[in-house]
Amino acid sequence: MILVTGATGNVGRHVVNLLLQAGEQVRATSRNPERAGLPEGVEVIRADMSQPEDLQAALQGADRAFLLPVAGQVRGFLDVAAKAGLGHLVLLSALAVTMEHAGVLGSVNAEYEQAVTESGLPWTFLRPGAFMANDLRWAPGIKNGGVVRAPFGEAATAPIDERDIAAAATRALLDDGHAGKAYELTGPESLTTAERVRILGEVLGRDLRFEELSPEQAREQMIAQTPAVVVDSMLALFGSFVGKTAEVSPVVRELTGSAPHTYADWAARNATAFR
Ligand SMILES: NC(=O)c1ccc[n+]([C@@H]2O[C@H](COP(=O)([O-])OP(=O)(O)OC[C@H]3O[C@@H](n4cnc5c(N)ncnc54)[C@H](OP(=O)(O)O)[C@@H]3O)[C@@H](O)[C@H]2O)c1
Repeated sequence: MILVTGATGNVGRHVVNLLLQAGEQVRATSRNPERAGLPEGVEVIRADMSQPEDLQAALQGADRAFLLPVAGQVRGFLDVAAKAGLGHLVLLSALAVTMEHAGVLGSVNAEYEQAVTESGLPWTFLRPGAFMANDLRWAPGIKNGGVVRAPFGEAATAPIDERDIAAAATRALLDDGHAGKAYELTGPESLTTAERVRILGEVLGRDLRFEELSPEQAREQMIAQTPAVVVDSMLALFGSFVGKTAEVSPVVRELTGSAPHTYADWAARNATAFR
């Protein structure tokens, strides 16, 4: 049986679906199972990462697990997993661990990776870059006037579709040969923020306007929802991408046998969120 934590999240939801399609027995965790909206055929159990007894129940009988790291709760999970004799752990980390300007975004994920290494459990690290799903935050502005307000219009990333992260996770969970490997995962193309807005507009059949925010304006908006130290790291990191071309990783194709989804494909699949 495979345990999927963070199963209601952007990535975890797809991990659950892919494992079910592969015929696996899946247990998924959520703090609110009744609202999880997970498919039939998956065992959904209530688990909060801060509660050791929840983790014991979640890990009982699990031979592999996908771990969405919850801040401050990773070592607790690993202790219970090691005692339960988990056979393989796939950690959702971040490409930021490999980047010079990533600040706390890199150091936090590096700490998670270190904790996993120290746990003695067999592991695989997935290090995705920016998620395409991040652009769902543009939905309110697009619905109300067709405007996207964001900083760093010329910052380039190679954003990845969360389905491709899940597909990579599925291979790492199901196939031999992934223990001790760290995989850098990106989408198929380097795109600036302004280019993503243009593609989104083409897919939606709408003329979208991009208004560039200054880093100060963006910071003011972002700290309403995100700790200031994280906001500052994000702004410093994305600022460092201005005028560059983002590196595209071959790993999704190597692991899954399929090219990663394009941004246009992601936008078409998620179009209703912007309408
Ligand atoms: N966004 C990016 O561009 C990016 C890039 C690289 C890496 N990452 C990494 O990706 C991760 C986020 O993945 P995601 O977008 O799939 O997640 P998400 O959509 O933000 O979902 C968070 C998940 O965590 C669960 N959760 C939150 N607190 C919990 C707790 N105390 N106990 C148990 N479960 C808890 C939630 O489940 P319930 O609410 O159902 O309990 C939910 O399923 C982060 O670690 C981030 O560092 C993100």
